[in-house]
Amino acid sequence: MFYRLEDGHGLPHDPFKAIVAPRPIGWISSIARDGSVNLAPYSFFNAVSGKPPIVMFSSELRKNTLENVEETREFACNFVGEPFLKEMSDTSAALPHGESEFDFAKIEQAECNEIAPPRVKAAYACLECKVIKIINLKDLRDEPTNAWTVFGQVVGAHIADEVMTEGRFDLEKAKPAARLGYRDYAVVRDIFELKRPGQA
Ligand SMILES: Cc1cc2nc3c(=O)[nH]c(=O)nc-3n(C[C@H](O)[C@H](O)[C@H](O)COP(=O)(O)O)c2cc1C
Repeated sequence: MFYRLEDGHGLPHDPFKAIVAPRPIGWISSIARDGSVNLAPYSFFNAVSGKPPIVMFSSELRKNTLENVEETREFACNFVGEPFLKEMSDTSAALPHGESEFDFAKIEQAECNEIAPPRVKAAYACLECKVIKIINLKDLRDEPTNAWTVFGQVVGAHIADEVMTEGRFDLEKAKPAARLGYRDYAVVRDIFELKRPGQA
């Protein structure tokens, strides 16, 4: 099948997110100017640069996380391994500003080193980030959309000892969870090396 977006897909559900899958989940912790903390999952999330390390996430509509990072310009991306799927999902509840998803989902928090927002203490990894740019995306007609993309440079990284193997962040142990389309998720289990042409 082919559909022009203007004409619609005619399917029971929009396939877009299933086509752009799997997507890593940025479990974003942030803090407001008034000190209230927030934790929520974002699967419009990825790394966009390695040197320096830069990540992005995108908020559809203006949500608490976006407003917090606009105010305080810092956030942490907590790694979602398989054992954390239920807790991660619980933190997607639409709580009013000021109510902490850490408390709501009974998740223990720990202090970050370089930024004010707390992190998920038990997460296998956490990237501490400072905001470098926030963009309200415009569409083809140059009209503002409901999407705000936040770019953050990583200034600190935590890795749990239990998922380190011989100096590597061991994804066989950390079992990253990913978002697919519809209500589906995946867990990375099938890991293999592939050499590029010319690599020994
Ligand atoms: C796995 C998962 C991924 C999500 N990804 C996004 C996303 O990329 N962008 C977005 O705006 N909302 C996303 N959501 C929904 C938000 O997590 C939800 O709206 C949440 O209440 C936002 O919290 P906040 O207002 O505290 O920031 C996602 C939810 C789940 C469960």
